[in-house]
Amino acid sequence: MKYTVVITSELPPVAMQMLAGEFDVISHSSEGVRTEEEMVTILAEADGAITLLSDPLTRRVLESNSNLRVVANYAVGYNNVDLDAARELGIAVTNTPGVLTEATADLTMALILAVTRRVAEGDAYVRRTGLVEWAPLAWLGSSLQGRQLGVIGMGRIGFATATRARAFGMSVVYSGPSARPESDRQHESRRVALDELFTTSDIVSVHCPLNEETRHLVDDAALGRTKASAFLINTSRGPIVDERALCDALENRRIAGAGLDVFENEPHVGERLRSFSNVVLLPHIGSATFETRSEMARIAASNVQAVLRGRPPFTPVG
Ligand code: DGY
Repeated sequence: MKYTVVITSELPPVAMQMLAGEFDVISHSSEGVRTEEEMVTILAEADGAITLLSDPLTRRVLESNSNLRVVANYAVGYNNVDLDAARELGIAVTNTPGVLTEATADLTMALILAVTRRVAEGDAYVRRTGLVEWAPLAWLGSSLQGRQLGVIGMGRIGFATATRARAFGMSVVYSGPSARPESDRQHESRRVALDELFTTSDIVSVHCPLNEETRHLVDDAALGRTKASAFLINTSRGPIVDERALCDALENRRIAGAGLDVFENEPHVGERLRSFSNVVLLPHIGSATFETRSEMARIAASNVQAVLRGRPPFTPVG
C-alpha cells in the first residue's frame, strides 16, 4: 500500500518528480490563506504533507488525522505549526533552512537601497509624470557608507545581510540571545542590547523568528528610541513589528521610512501603511528566486520521503 502525500499548493516540479511513483500525491492549487477547517479537509488522507507558511497547523488540524507522520513546511519559518502538539502526536515537522539565506539577504539589501535612495518613489514618479528633470536638490536620499546596520537576530539571514552591508561600507551591531563570534570577526560587529541597537542604528533590520517573545518586539517604545533619520526593514515575519506603532512613528516622523516584505495581517496590508510614500512594500518574496524555491521543494520532498521510508528527517524543527 502506498502512502499518501498531500501538497497544499503548486510547487516547483522537483517535488512531484521526487514523490510521484513512490507515493500517491495529491497536489492542491494555491488558494490563499486557508482556515483550520479547510486544512482538516485537505489533510484528511495524508500520511505526509508539504505545507505553506500560511497554512494553520494547529493542534486541532494535527489531531484530526491520526495517520499523519510528517509535515514538511515549505519555509524556513514554522510559526504556523503547533510544535508542542506535533511532538505529542509524534508528527515530525521540518523546514527548509540554509537554501533561502542568500536570496532573503539579497532582498533585504534591495529594500535597504530602495528606501534610502527612494527607488520605488522615483519609479512611480517617472511613470506618472513622464518627466526626468535633473536638479541638485531633487530626490535626495541617504548614503550607506559609514552608516550603522542594526541586525535583530544574527542568524543565517542576519549574518548574510551583515556581509552585504559591510560591502556597502556600513558598520554592524546586532542583538540576540547569544554572541556570534564569527560575525564579530568577519564583520567587526558588536552584540548590543536591543535598546542601544534602536537608539544608534541608521538601518534596523529584523531577522529573528516569530514567537511569543518576539511578537511586537518593534513597538511604540522601540520606535520611540530610533533616530528620526533611521529606516526599519522587515523580511522576517510581519507580527514582529506592531504595524499600528510603525504607522504612528511614520506619521509623527519619528522614523524616516520602512521597507517591508512581510505584514502583520497577511494576506492583507492595511490602507494606512499603504499611504506612506517613504515605505516600500513587497509581497513576501524574500525567497522568491527560481533557484531557491526549487531547492526548498527538494528539501521538503526529501524530508517527507525520509520519514515515510522510516528514517529521520533531514531538517527537523522543534
Ligand atoms: C520563509 O521561508 O520563512 C520565508 O518567509 C519564505 O519566503
